[in-house]
Amino acid sequence: MAENPFIPFSRPWIDDTEIEAVSQVLESKWISTGARVREFERAFAEYLGVKHAIAVSSCTAALHLSLVVSKIGINDEVITTPYTFTATAEAIRYVGAKPVFVDINPDTLNIDVSKIEQAITPNTKAIMPVHIAGLPCDMDSLKDICTKHDLLLLDDAAHAIPTIYKGDYIGGIGDLSSFSFYANKNLTTGEGGMITTNNDSLAQPLRTMRLHGIDKDAWSRQSRRSIWRYDITTEGYKYNMTDIQAAMGLCQLMKLTKQHERRSNFSQIYQQELEKIPQISTPFVPDNTIQHAWHLYIIQLNQVDRDQFVESMREENIECSVHYIPLHLFDFYQKQYGYKVGDFPYAEEVFERVVSLPLHPGMTESDVNIVFETIKKVISK
Ligand SMILES: Cc1ncc(COP(=O)(O)O)c(C=O)c1O
Repeated sequence: MAENPFIPFSRPWIDDTEIEAVSQVLESKWISTGARVREFERAFAEYLGVKHAIAVSSCTAALHLSLVVSKIGINDEVITTPYTFTATAEAIRYVGAKPVFVDINPDTLNIDVSKIEQAITPNTKAIMPVHIAGLPCDMDSLKDICTKHDLLLLDDAAHAIPTIYKGDYIGGIGDLSSFSFYANKNLTTGEGGMITTNNDSLAQPLRTMRLHGIDKDAWSRQSRRSIWRYDITTEGYKYNMTDIQAAMGLCQLMKLTKQHERRSNFSQIYQQELEKIPQISTPFVPDNTIQHAWHLYIIQLNQVDRDQFVESMREENIECSVHYIPLHLFDFYQKQYGYKVGDFPYAEEVFERVVSLPLHPGMTESDVNIVFETIKKVISK
């Protein structure tokens, strides 16, 4: 039998449009934060229907600044999920606060909102939910809990573009939302991130904080012909986005709807085919009040060794991945916060079974067919 072509787990969807846009920025000689960043922020905010979008250098930076501007610090606690990438909890540590993990719902893989109130203490200041794979968390319940306990809702929206929850895009529902434009994300600028909010009083300091706390960035100073004079009005960080990144982001934003259609279509094919296999549980598909971003397509294996499965797929030229090793299983989180094996049973159980299948807009339906046919072959072995 002929060998499968190599099917990567993820690839950015880049064509001549991005190359041309980035070249134009390079030729302009204004390559750091400038007009393209402003344009990208405006276009991003408009796409999501949110008042403010503040471009930054990564989602990790976005999460960090969200906590800083919310005045969360030492001895405070932020409730989040252990089933996420380390950046979520890492940002909480940056401000000296403690990430307080709450177990997940094993079907949605998102934080189990019914368990959150038990974890609230007088030190709790915020909830940082993660919309895993692009499936929105239960935002109504999260908002109710936040209102009841006077907490901020700072969602990690790294996977959640374009995710819709009951008619609104993720990005305008929480107090502050943080997006990632890392290389494998639905919209990429190589590295990059965005904070979105409808709150004017949080947006203004965020714009200053992301560039050293300087009241005017270099672009504003040169355009006002007062090159050198500036003030430092707040604490600052070096978290600005460059025009090179923003030029790419603008092109990616134009393609966002199209790339999402392709991801949704491929996910639907996976769903139809894999539902027939008893050894596989397919991802939770929400009702039509919700739009899944399909950043990841995560299956759960039943009675099949996950590591062996990933290895066998690799031998068949198909690259899979695993999201996520729960954070409380890592040495650092155990030493730093005293978490231990057994603390979050659903996150642990799910972790043993999950596999993320190849999913990216550059795939073809034929690639998707090869993936599920190979899954059938590997499982039957
Ligand atoms: C859930 C989640 N949060 C945060 C991040 C951090 O994003 P960035 O690499 O843009 O800092 C990632 C990155 O993959 C992520 O998956």
